[in-house]
Amino acid sequence: VIILRALCLAATSFAFSQSAFALEALQISERQPGNFESWVALSILITSVLTASFLNHNAPKIRVFGTILAASGCFAIAAWFLFYVLGTGFLENPKPNQTPLDSAKPALLWIQAILALVSGFSLLAVAVKQSKNTDRLELSAANEPDRYGRVSRVLHWTIAILFLALIPMGIFASIIPEGTAYRVEYYVVHKTIGVTVLALVLVRLFWNRKSKRPALDTSLTSKERKLAHGAHIALYVMMIMIPITGFIMTSFHGAPTFFFAWELEPLWGFSKTGTIVWGMLHKYLLPYLLYIVLGAHILGALKHQLIDKHTNAFKRMVS
Ligand code: HEM
Repeated sequence: VIILRALCLAATSFAFSQSAFALEALQISERQPGNFESWVALSILITSVLTASFLNHNAPKIRVFGTILAASGCFAIAAWFLFYVLGTGFLENPKPNQTPLDSAKPALLWIQAILALVSGFSLLAVAVKQSKNTDRLELSAANEPDRYGRVSRVLHWTIAILFLALIPMGIFASIIPEGTAYRVEYYVVHKTIGVTVLALVLVRLFWNRKSKRPALDTSLTSKERKLAHGAHIALYVMMIMIPITGFIMTSFHGAPTFFFAWELEPLWGFSKTGTIVWGMLHKYLLPYLLYIVLGAHILGALKHQLIDKHTNAFKRMVS
């Protein structure tokens, strides 16, 4: 698996070096030669699957490595924002015709970068603690009555990592001014990973039917159980609706949907009303709802672990 990842990164670097030379000769709306963007999307995807797999590996040392990989992913997002996005000047001069809600984008990106930094350091601290643990994690592929199995865990963490990467990427893509050389590249990566996330969520739903999910932790009060159940349903609805609304918005905008090297032409003609309505859902309503529900989901899990000291609930998905 490590060799596969190394090959993928080497191919990405090669495609990047090739495309960097060819960039000047390119039309601004063209894709890069050698499918550079598809390699970037593939690297992000493979790194996410690997991180999710290592986090749930039998061997304790590999789990520590998974945590360090997750921390490096957080640092990569923070570094991308601090050293690259800030330097583009697009936060001050974004694409024209931004709505009043769009003025929150710089603040949102700042918050996400700071959260990524804090999460990176917290994960490093977790890795240090984890390195003292020598227990093997004996997990079956299927879910067990009181904890999730390997398939559910790897799907859960892969989807979570990809989702968290898609949000800042989507926000930045939406402010890149028309005519910027690499604008299309961001859309290709964003849409390719977005479509992949939808496919992974459908696989997860199928797996939930095939392998019964563990019941909610018994230490939860009945009110907490209702809240946790509601949050899970809301998260599934958003994980399905966000990519679907992105696809419909894109089609109403008259733009193609990209999936690696493939391009799916818009399914119907351009419609301003369609773009606005579906854009409202994809760009504002659903992401803001997601921030609230995801925040509640994470805070709820942390409260259970750190304040209520009911460590079982957390262990169902992380150890
Ligand atoms: C889980 C999947 C996805 C997530 C979490 C996600 C999230 C986001 C977010 C947060 C934005 C920024 C909105 C803004 O602030 O303006 C965005 C923009 C965008 N998304 Fe997605 N997205 C996903 C999938 C997709 C898919 C599948 C497509 C199309 C096939 C798509 C197309 C777009 C486009 C075109 C924009 C930029 C709109 C603009 O230029 O104003 N997204 N996405």
